Amino acid sequence: MDGVSDIVVVKLGGSVITNKDTPCSLRADVVDSLSNVLGRSPLKKVVVHGGGSFGHYYAKKAGISTSCGPVEDIDDVFLTREAMFELNKHLLRSLHAHGLHPYVISPFVESRDEYLVDFFLNLLGSGFTPVLFGDVIPCKGGFKVISGDDISYLVCSILKPSRMIFCIDVDGVYPSSKMDGAIISEFDCKMLRNFVGSNKKFDVTGGIRRKLEIACKIASLGTDVLFVNGFKPDVVLKALNGLYDVGTCIRGKR
Ligand SMILES: Nc1ncnc2c1ncn2[C@@H]1O[C@H](COP(=O)(O)OP(=O)(O)O)[C@@H](O)[C@H]1O
Ligand SMILES: [Mg+2]
Repeated sequence: MDGVSDIVVVKLGGSVITNKDTPCSLRADVVDSLSNVLGRSPLKKVVVHGGGSFGHYYAKKAGISTSCGPVEDIDDVFLTREAMFELNKHLLRSLHAHGLHPYVISPFVESRDEYLVDFFLNLLGSGFTPVLFGDVIPCKGGFKVISGDDISYLVCSILKPSRMIFCIDVDGVYPSSKMDGAIISEFDCKMLRNFVGSNKKFDVTGGIRRKLEIACKIASLGTDVLFVNGFKPDVVLKALNGLYDVGTCIRGKR
């Protein structure tokens, strides 16, 4: 199926919508301003969000990671997911308050068949905004975290959108984890080989390096990928409107 060019996938980073240094702390004002921007955009959008200090906190405490493994106490799966649903509830209410009609999809099964294409297109065509988020899913031998970034890739592989926007907590991708100087305006995936990125306190899903690996997989689908500062609503709006010089861009391979 050809790309449906007026769909944009937007990932709201956990480090943007929560304060990653304090367990379960929502940045309500940021959620509100991002919902406002999303509500103002006429595009068809799929919204994915991360776990921030909600999901990551419990997952880390319980030793649940992106590798499949046994879970000592299955209640930890419940607690991690409960924290994610809690965060999701805040986001949904905010999106709804800004005129969107969010439709939550969870759990997100790792499958990409035609059924899912129609599933998304029917929702989008009816005026819904599909919303997905990082989750804990069963796997052979236990459970694992599927990150919001992984889910973004799965959504892109289903819908082949023209653009995917990662809202992160800095202006874009910096050449080094010191994050000083200028951001990289156009990231070439060949740069990945030598790229070292740091990780946040509660992050169980690999931080910026893993994010860039996923972004490059998304770009290989033909989707342009943008990294922008989610704390700057005007910048997010520009990215939604198709301006590429507001952060770091990875051109989709066509
Ligand atoms: N070179 C870099 N360029 C951009 N961000 C970086 C870099 N090194 C580390 N980071 C940090 O990586 C974070 C992005 O990864 P992550 O914390 O997983 O974000 P998210 O919560 O959006 O998934 C940013 O918050 C940023 O502070
Ligand atoms: Mg992350």
